[in-house]
Amino acid sequence: MKILLTGGAGYIASHTCVELAQAGHEPVIVDNYVNSCPEAIRRVEQIIGRPVPHYEADVSDRAAMDRIFEENAFDCVIHFAGLKAVGESVAQPLRYYRNNLDTTLTLCETMQAHGVKRLVFSSSATVYGNLPTVPYREDMTSAGCTNPYGWTKFMIEKILEGQSTADHEWSVVLLRYFNPIGAHESGLIGEDPAGIPNNLMPYVAKVAVGELEKLSIFGNDYPTPDGTGVRDYIHVVDLARGHVLACDYAASHEGCEIINLGTGHGYSVLDLVQTFIRVNHVDVPYVIAPRRPGDIAENWADPTKARALLGWQAEKTLEDMCRDTFRFQQKNPKGYRG
Ligand code: NAD
Ligand code: WQD
Repeated sequence: MKILLTGGAGYIASHTCVELAQAGHEPVIVDNYVNSCPEAIRRVEQIIGRPVPHYEADVSDRAAMDRIFEENAFDCVIHFAGLKAVGESVAQPLRYYRNNLDTTLTLCETMQAHGVKRLVFSSSATVYGNLPTVPYREDMTSAGCTNPYGWTKFMIEKILEGQSTADHEWSVVLLRYFNPIGAHESGLIGEDPAGIPNNLMPYVAKVAVGELEKLSIFGNDYPTPDGTGVRDYIHVVDLARGHVLACDYAASHEGCEIINLGTGHGYSVLDLVQTFIRVNHVDVPYVIAPRRPGDIAENWADPTKARALLGWQAEKTLEDMCRDTFRFQQKNPKGYRG
């Protein structure tokens, strides 16, 4: 299949591009590089051994999107493009709503105009909000999102559900990712956050190489086995494989399905830090700090539906995630811009 990846130079999309190409598909990328750079695409091309067609454009630019759809007969689209930093979304809500909603509406209108009706969307476990019971199942009603970023994902899910109800030929798969970490085992592509990372794993990686002094563990008094927060960390390559299967699913079904992509296992902050230290033979100094506002104690996925509908389950371990992250960090001390 010829598949358009919006936001295709980003962290999750670049790994998905590799898995799609290696499964025999033809990925095409559109990105405006607001949070990525073309070097990621060059690295993908190095891994797969052939060029990947790519366009520099804003997905909310209708004229640019029309040109891309005129030049390519797409079978499916994976919509990764979006702004994703939770704290930034609290400070800049209008920018987040504008970018994440506009890209989605423009993309869907362009797809409709060109008769492309298969869409896989990057949603997030953040749409569950702070539900009291774990694991999270797709049919659980959201407790309400805790930040504008989460609400954009919530709203986009509703927009896409509405479109698939209005036009029964549409096939939409809403993938709710849990906590993606890790990197391709080549060490060529991985997560390259701008500035000081907000998320746990990239922060740990920078402490491990001495770029940051120490990790602050946000709270050790949660009602969890060791008191630190528990999350469902999923290797980005497992996640990428899930997208390949979701495109196959969209090609053979109509309607709208919500599917969790998580391992089904929760690990604490201390589990992750200690595993990172053990498998990489490095020190990761840390201090216990106050809880981070807005954080929840624990969440993890019920991945039963992904197994049933897609035949997918996560295969990589927390050890793999820690090893692969560290390899990318060591090989790319300044990220892609080095
Ligand atoms: P990322 O920032 O690395 O990738 C997003 C890409 O979209 C970037 O390359 C960025 O330049 C591009 N982009 C943003 N706005 C654009 C626009 N208007 N036009 C064209 N390109 C645009 O992030 P990621 O971690 O790879 O996330 C990919 C998707 O998955 C996002 O939608 C994110 O919200 C979602 N998601 C991420 C996580 C996570 O923890 N990383 C978890 C759940 C969901
Ligand atoms: C994980 C754990 C922190 C940093 C976020 C988004 C979510 C989704 C995935 C997009 C928590 C602890 C963290 C640090 C720490 N993204 N921590 N010290 O908050 O689960 O999810 O990314 O959809 O929407 O909210 O991920 O990696 O920030 O935190 O102790 O310096 O690590 O308290 O328990 P989170 P995270």
